[in-house]
Amino acid sequence: MFGTTYPIIQAPMAGGTTTPALVAAVSNAGALGSLGAAYMTPAQIRDTVAEIRRLTDRPFAVNLFAGGHDSPHDVDPTAMLAILARHHEALGLQRPTMPAWPADRFPEQFEAVLEARPAIFSFTFGLPAEAIRRARDAGIRTVGTATTVDEAQRLEAAGIDAVVAQGSEAGGHRGTFAGPFENAMIGTMALVPQVVDAVSVPVIASGGIMDGRGIVAARALGAAAVQMGTAFLGCDEAGVAEAHRTALEAGHEDAATVTRAFSGRPARGLVNDFMRDVHAAEKAGPVTLPFAVHGALTGPMRRQASRVGDIERMSLWSGQGVRMFRRMPAAELVRRLVEESATVAAGLG
Ligand SMILES: Cc1cc2nc3c(=O)[nH]c(=O)nc-3n(C[C@H](O)[C@H](O)[C@H](O)COP(=O)(O)O)c2cc1C
Repeated sequence: MFGTTYPIIQAPMAGGTTTPALVAAVSNAGALGSLGAAYMTPAQIRDTVAEIRRLTDRPFAVNLFAGGHDSPHDVDPTAMLAILARHHEALGLQRPTMPAWPADRFPEQFEAVLEARPAIFSFTFGLPAEAIRRARDAGIRTVGTATTVDEAQRLEAAGIDAVVAQGSEAGGHRGTFAGPFENAMIGTMALVPQVVDAVSVPVIASGGIMDGRGIVAARALGAAAVQMGTAFLGCDEAGVAEAHRTALEAGHEDAATVTRAFSGRPARGLVNDFMRDVHAAEKAGPVTLPFAVHGALTGPMRRQASRVGDIERMSLWSGQGVRMFRRMPAAELVRRLVEESATVAAGLG
């Protein structure tokens, strides 16, 4: 369906991780590269897609956050500002202040995606029915993220071409859009076959898949393909702070925790001082703000921490398969994943 040689998708990872070099190297190696464009302006989307096209003539995906954006309303940031103040001080930053409520960029970002016409448009956090229709009309394949069977069925009913079944092991943000996220923490092993049984479109398994063993297991569960994020953070071409990669190399499965601390929306990353402070404060009640405004509030801390390599104050997104993390160029990773899968499948007879 996607025109790739292998059923392996490098996950879109917004925030500069999925550089044009990474996306193109993955697609050139026969898998599917994906650009995480959720934090980009329309002009950046157009320019970045043009840059990827200079590096590859193979198919690739562009991904957006399609939902979960609260409209502006009154919030009490006192507790969060107090926590942040300590971490700003540790970084030598001025006291934090409440930012303006950011606008929902999805509508204008989607127009830029339509104009750029990538082979595939993928999304998470929602079900943008009108966008799915318009992408399909433009000849762009659509891929939505589900964390429950119900979400997968809703995506199918809206005319989606394929569904990512995101298990609870996954690194980064939970894609949950149709209920409380706490109810949608289903492991990949249980989620994938139940989604496969419930929908007729191809299912892409995601969450905790790091090597050929995970790929073959996902295929055995009925997945048509896999989408891997954490594994591709180890590629030379990925835009990842060196300190983040070092933390992943030392990371353990029980330290990859789900938190609202950084963006206000549940996401899995390696535990650090900032997360611990927010979690301790949360024992007395909620302290994080809605997504978008919370992300804007923690932005200065996260950016400065990344610049200086301070792992206690940056978001160290990671899946639970982190002990299988390894560093190498993207083409090499794709080649190894294919080889390992063949060996594992042969070993199973
Ligand atoms: C650093 C990071 C950033 C991510 N950003 C996005 C994103 O922008 N859009 C998206 O659909 N998924 C995003 N994800 C989730 C991935 O699509 C995928 O579900 C997840 O990486 C799978 O789990 P794994 O990390 O164990 O492979 C992100 C994951 C990571 C690790």
